[in-house]
Amino acid sequence: MKVLGIETSCDETGIAVYDSDAGLLADCLYSQADIHAKYGGVIPELASRDHIRKTLPLVKQVLNEAGIKAEELEGVAYTAGPGLVGALLVGASIGRSLAMGLGIPAIGVHHMEGHLLAPMLEPDPPEFPFVALLVSGGHTQLVRVDGIGQYEMLGESLDDAAGEAFDKVGKMLGLPYPGGPHVAKLALQGNSGRFEFPRPMTNRPGLDFSFSGLKTFVRNTIAEHSSEGELEEQTASDIAKAFEEAVAGTLAIKCRRAIEHTGLETLIIAGGVSANLHLREVLENTMAKVNGRLYYAQFKFCTDNGAMIAYTGCQRLLAGQEADLGIHVQPRWSLETLSAI
Ligand code: KG4
Ligand code: ZN
Repeated sequence: MKVLGIETSCDETGIAVYDSDAGLLADCLYSQADIHAKYGGVIPELASRDHIRKTLPLVKQVLNEAGIKAEELEGVAYTAGPGLVGALLVGASIGRSLAMGLGIPAIGVHHMEGHLLAPMLEPDPPEFPFVALLVSGGHTQLVRVDGIGQYEMLGESLDDAAGEAFDKVGKMLGLPYPGGPHVAKLALQGNSGRFEFPRPMTNRPGLDFSFSGLKTFVRNTIAEHSSEGELEEQTASDIAKAFEEAVAGTLAIKCRRAIEHTGLETLIIAGGVSANLHLREVLENTMAKVNGRLYYAQFKFCTDNGAMIAYTGCQRLLAGQEADLGIHVQPRWSLETLSAI
């Protein structure tokens, strides 16, 4: 089954075609980062308007690259939530209408389920059941996954998501938006051990997270070491390093707990922060200690993309699920409410 995937939940227009027989046929991504950079964060109205401009031309481009005509598509999947309501509505309207015009089924996909299944696009995909650590700009969640749609929330962030914390620390350090990759790059020059930041909520039981205290700790450290509002380059790098280590260390402690709690041997990480090399390294070590295995998607499928939506939609369409003719989005949508296939 050939399925077109449309991702427009935030500031990236991601389009792809996934074929259940041949795998991923083509994918492309347009990032609006430059549009939002001067505001230091995503402006929802600007995001919606840009998705309107980009979605159809990118659909044409991807069909071209896949070497197929629109008439050869057998389904359309679009992100229906969670995300920015206007941005979601653009993808849902275009996706739902295209499917209606072509006379094929459509399906609204949960964005975090898309992230969660992105490692399935790799040549050596994980097998169910596993524990998933979802770390994106909006979510930090530990989930027990027994199959597609069989999700048990083990823990989640009570305040900022891990990616959000990276972005806010990036802003404090004067780095461009989104901060995550820039903080990671700066941390490469940092010395480990000069600063020791707290690992929030690790000395009490449970699998929930909290990153806002760590963020305040970083803010105070920056203020303490600044002179006339300026930080020395090396100090900024050392702070980035200590922050990255604190986030990865905290996530690793909770992942290990989740693995021990569930008795499972497989951990997958997904979402934008799973592109972080230090986090991958720390979690590889954690899983080696428990004789388990870590899986993640290739870099371009860690952050928002159309391939994960095409893949997820394809699995649900193959199972006979499909959307009605209405255009529905859910800006807030719990992963646990999804149906099993
Ligand atoms: O999954 P994603 O693309 O969008 C959401 O669903 O939110 O995640 C974006 C987040 C941003 O907060 C970004 O700063 C972060 O992922 N991110 C990273 C890295 N690459 C992206 N954080 C840390 N290190 C990275 N290399
Ligand atoms: Zn995302």
